[in-house]
Amino acid sequence: YSLKQHNTFGIEAKCAQFVEYSSEAEAKEVAELLRNTRVPYIIIGGGSNLLLTRDYEGIVVHSACKGIERHGNRLVCGSGEVFDDVVAQSIEMGLYGAENLSLIPGDVGASAVQNIGAYGAEAKDLIRSIRAVEIATGNVCVIENAECEYGYRQSKFKHDWKNQFLILSVEYEFAATFEPRLDYGNIRAELVKEGISLPTAQQLRNTIIRIREAKLPDPKVLGNAGSFFMNPIVGRQKYEALATQYEGMPHYDIDADHVKIPAGWMIDQCGWKGKSMGRAGVHDKQALVLVNRGGATGQEVVALCQQIQADVKQKFGIDIYPEVNVI
Ligand code: EPU
Repeated sequence: YSLKQHNTFGIEAKCAQFVEYSSEAEAKEVAELLRNTRVPYIIIGGGSNLLLTRDYEGIVVHSACKGIERHGNRLVCGSGEVFDDVVAQSIEMGLYGAENLSLIPGDVGASAVQNIGAYGAEAKDLIRSIRAVEIATGNVCVIENAECEYGYRQSKFKHDWKNQFLILSVEYEFAATFEPRLDYGNIRAELVKEGISLPTAQQLRNTIIRIREAKLPDPKVLGNAGSFFMNPIVGRQKYEALATQYEGMPHYDIDADHVKIPAGWMIDQCGWKGKSMGRAGVHDKQALVLVNRGGATGQEVVALCQQIQADVKQKFGIDIYPEVNVI
């Protein structure tokens, strides 16, 4: 079974078996199958955070659970829904808080696993609970936000609970009044350029979409998985040493002792922006994004990734790690 349509890098790789579930009953059947087989398996979402480096000799599981149901200020969304459709619908319904997450690729299920985020907002701020089938028992459970140990692009689903749950739906809670968050990066400046000082939720969404479209390649045109690396968090001393060397170095304060440094900026400083290695390359408008220039293999992308990691380490003394899941 070809996975080319299931990874936005557009990499040609196959798996032995592809299984989809679109209801609780089907998820229970899939859980039973996974319990009773010795074949390895992985669970994927929209494939927008996935790098396939080889054919997979196991079962790939994918949710096709649909539906967006409103309960007051909450939306219960099927794990197989496109996350950005939820954002669009919430705004139409007069439910607020997701605007800054507009146009992030991927499915609802992945939003809960990966804690997707952009422009100062994160999925964890909206997620209330997750309904899932536990693979080991076939039981349906409701997992509360507080149990998920959410952090920057992190959750328990990525380590302790890896491959243990088939997510059915995610319940998001919204605000009934719109409180725009405009302080991150260039949002305010972009709005001013458009002649807007106090945007409506829809205007903010449109602006976020324009900012993203200007920097991030459309996977249908140029294969990619969004940010390839996570932004590293370093000690304040390390940051201050670098800041004296690189005047105006962009950074985000995490707490009194920690600072986040944009990996894209460091990769750019290393001269990688717009460059290629084989058929894999670094996007010319945002160095954090690795692209498939056409027919690249997963190994070619990994080779580029390793070269970039080595160069960033040499120049800045900082380790950077992929945000994408490398299979
Ligand atoms: N920068 C450069 N050169 C580059 C890229 C960035 O100098 O080639 C500088 C920018 O000028 C800016 C700083 O680095 O000062 C940060 O860049 P940007 O605002 O574009 O954000 P980012 O840190 O590269 C993160 C998220 C994105 C998210 C944006 C906006 C991660 C790993 N990435 O990127 O998320 O859209 O912030 O909030 O945290 C994704 O996860 O796939 C993703 C796209």
